[in-house]
Amino acid sequence: MQHGHNVTMLGTGLIGLFYTMTLHGQRGRDRVHCVYSRNAQRAQAFAMKWDVPHATTDMAAAIRHDEVDTVVIGLPNHLHEEAVRLCAEAGKAVLCTKPLARTGEEAKRILDIVETSGIFAGYLEDLVYTPKTLKALESVRRGALGDILWTRSRETHGGPHSDWFWDVERAGGGAIVDLGCHCIEIIRNFIGKDIRPVQVTCWADTLVHPINAEDNAIALIRFDNGAVGQFEVSWSFRGGMDLRDEIVGTEGTIWLNHFLRTGFEMFTSGAGGYVAEKAEQESGWLFPVGDEVNELGYTDMFTDMFNAMDEGRLPMETFYDGYVVNAVIDACYKSAQSLRWEPVELDDWRGREDVVPIQGLNEEIEGLQLVKRERLPDGKIKLILKNIETGEVTQRFVDEKGV
Ligand SMILES: NC(=O)c1ccc[n+]([C@@H]2O[C@H](COP(=O)([O-])OP(=O)(O)OC[C@H]3O[C@@H](n4cnc5c(N)ncnc54)[C@H](O)[C@@H]3O)[C@@H](O)[C@H]2O)c1
Repeated sequence: MQHGHNVTMLGTGLIGLFYTMTLHGQRGRDRVHCVYSRNAQRAQAFAMKWDVPHATTDMAAAIRHDEVDTVVIGLPNHLHEEAVRLCAEAGKAVLCTKPLARTGEEAKRILDIVETSGIFAGYLEDLVYTPKTLKALESVRRGALGDILWTRSRETHGGPHSDWFWDVERAGGGAIVDLGCHCIEIIRNFIGKDIRPVQVTCWADTLVHPINAEDNAIALIRFDNGAVGQFEVSWSFRGGMDLRDEIVGTEGTIWLNHFLRTGFEMFTSGAGGYVAEKAEQESGWLFPVGDEVNELGYTDMFTDMFNAMDEGRLPMETFYDGYVVNAVIDACYKSAQSLRWEPVELDDWRGREDVVPIQGLNEEIEGLQLVKRERLPDGKIKLILKNIETGEVTQRFVDEKGV
């Protein structure tokens, strides 16, 4: 049996907690061995609660700790680059939470740091690892949906839980950089990570909160093969956290709902406390989530990361993916300003260049091109047909044998 990994956890906020709950929640062999927080009391309290042997307020020392081989970055966005640099200097494997960076430029620097140093690096994009998403991706890979034409991903809630998210300088933006990063990577996984995102059009506005960033946005991402990604993000949605995806292909459709109303409904007059992340209320009819860290993908994500490390392969989500996501986000911000389609600027594209447009329907009937076949309420079958030469569109009834 492989040995487990000793982890340094940077940050004791929400994500540090979720990650540690995941690693220590079951009888796993990968454990948090050292925790870093700016505040000594918080570091100590976290270490006590989660049975972590070492706690420190010195980030560099936490990263260099000689009993640790892997560092997990759960710090605000503006600290990711510095933390990755320290990991590279110390020669430790690094797993960084989303978004990788605040801009494409910063993400590229981070990517260069890990690739130059040769350390293992994984991008902790949990929402592509939810059990439903992994199964849906497998179905898509097996061809169940044919060619993917359109993927829609939505993440909305009432806004984040800490000051720094609301500060453009530290966060790099608003709801797009915070939530859109998840949606973009979900979209890329379904459409194909080797298909280049080419152009973006985006609406973003500050509708509710008094901040210098967007609290609502919608974007369309056009891919090289003609497929389209659509994301919707909000920091002013009421009613909890809404995480849904729709995938539409030439041969099928998938609808995914990860969080609200997924089969667990509870009424309480209000004595139970925490319900689920970003739930707005603790009484009345509630929608708890059974095994939250598993439903959100953290369990399968860490399994893939540590397996990849042990097997000497890349994880499903890499720092390169984080860089592509940041480049798409940059284009979103440009488009929201210019109100035009903006190109996705990727200086370093590692996917396919030979992409052909999606083919679509290609069926001929007696020299005419089939546009649509439909059974009507009276049971008859109607064909809509196009003359390839003249473009004339006609219709015809046929029997069960198509005659
Ligand atoms: N689903 C997800 O993958 C997910 C969910 C939430 C947050 N995140 C990401 O995790 C990171 C942290 O978010 P969070 O929700 O845990 O935030 P948080 O505010 O809950 O926690 C941040 C942690 O960083 C520490 N910190 C803040 N400013 C610091 C500074 N200047 N120097 C050193 N430490 C500092 C805080 O004390 C705290 O321990 C962000 O990049 C965020 O985007 C990812």
